[in-house]
Amino acid sequence: MTDYDIRVLDDDSQHRAAHTLFRGTLHHPPAPDDRWPAVRESFEPGRVMGAFADGEMIGTVQSFSSRLAVPGGAVVQHAAVSRVGVRADWTRRGVLTALQRAQLRAMRSAGDVVSSLRASETVIYGRYGYGAATRFRYLDIDRRRAAPRTRPVGRVRFVEGEEGQRIVRELFDELGLRRAGTISRWPGWWTVNARIGSEEYVKTAVRSSGASGTSGTSGTSGASGYDGYVTFKVEPGENDPRQGKQTRLSVLDLWARDAEAWADLWLFVLGIDLVGEVSAVGRPVDEPVQWLLGDPRACRIPDEFDETWLRLLDVPAALTARTYREGEPVVIGVRDVYLPENSGSYRIAADGVTRVEGPAELVVDVDVLASAYLGDVSFSTLAATRRLDVVEPAALARADALFAVSEAPWCGTYF
Ligand SMILES: CC(C)(COP(=O)(O)OP(=O)(O)OC[C@H]1O[C@@H](n2cnc3c(N)ncnc32)[C@H](O)[C@@H]1OP(=O)(O)O)[C@@H](O)C(=O)NCCC(=O)NCCS
Repeated sequence: MTDYDIRVLDDDSQHRAAHTLFRGTLHHPPAPDDRWPAVRESFEPGRVMGAFADGEMIGTVQSFSSRLAVPGGAVVQHAAVSRVGVRADWTRRGVLTALQRAQLRAMRSAGDVVSSLRASETVIYGRYGYGAATRFRYLDIDRRRAAPRTRPVGRVRFVEGEEGQRIVRELFDELGLRRAGTISRWPGWWTVNARIGSEEYVKTAVRSSGASGTSGTSGTSGASGYDGYVTFKVEPGENDPRQGKQTRLSVLDLWARDAEAWADLWLFVLGIDLVGEVSAVGRPVDEPVQWLLGDPRACRIPDEFDETWLRLLDVPAALTARTYREGEPVVIGVRDVYLPENSGSYRIAADGVTRVEGPAELVVDVDVLASAYLGDVSFSTLAATRRLDVVEPAALARADALFAVSEAPWCGTYF
């Protein structure tokens, strides 16, 4: 029995109250008045929900309309779930569960094939069908020791102001949705996250393949004439590392069309004078930066983290959207408590997916299927860690082969 109700929040004052509530659950103060206009833009009508008790808002969830790339290159309609919070005086009474139930149903009704989120704590979302599906890692590079093996072959130059914003958005739209797990960035994401021209020392540089630096001359460059960008921030320190804190450059965002542009952008940041340490957050786990360096030990990987928590809202549509490697088919049974229409058996083969009657060879909860879906973890690993029921042991190798991917799935967009 609940003594609260769930509503869709569509007016500005409710959005601000929801934002303040959410920030409070993260122990942050409300957004200041001068920040609110930018934040307001990010709320999407119909996608913000509040839980109410005694006439007061006690919890909130929301999502943003996006797309997600799946193995094989197709993109599916995706809801980016964020700003999830329940007031501390109402937690552990089922408020999030009620919000999740309503939100999952609403997203599926809106045609979202998948949703995803970043989990503040890993214990929260599995019960609602979200599984950890991509990872990212941190990099710390001792720049003075790095001794890159090679030099840039193209031209990298700074862009600023509104022109810079425009170029970066165009480039991201062009380059950002290729690897499985990447997502499109919605207009409100840019409004809230745009860092170019901020008061901090944030710089953006773009890369073109013409060594002269003229844009639009290359066969590989797109509409903007560029084939990649890097946004970074510098915290100045002492020039002499023995004197104390070193100057630190943090790579915030780096996207490239191909390996050549990617290498040039890394070589550019590694070549900036007086920087002691180059660090990056949220990079793909298979990004080979250390191979660019004369001294690979100059590149340390201090941590690796779960990134995307993925929810397959429409299991048949999601399974059909991705491609599979050649191999013998497998029949996978799916259990979904919150969206029971997904429950059932699916025959998965290189030439397509069909829903079938009869017994499955492997049986998974929908969160576990989400973890395997983009290819980040194999069915064998999930079986070894007792995350799925194995009815037919020989099916594990078949499932592993079908779902295998050659590039680690990765999102690269924090929300
Ligand atoms: C996380 C949060 C939204 C959970 O809300 P809630 O209303 O307490 O969740 P519910 O009461 O519906 O909990 C459902 C289940 O999840 C468990 N659970 C929820 N949050 C948990 C947490 N942080 N740690 C451990 N268990 C948690 C509950 O114990 C409950 O388990 P049960 O069904 O076995 O009893 C809330 O604690 C919160 O706002 N935390 C701070 C902000 C935050 O982390 N937001 C998430 C951003 S991604």
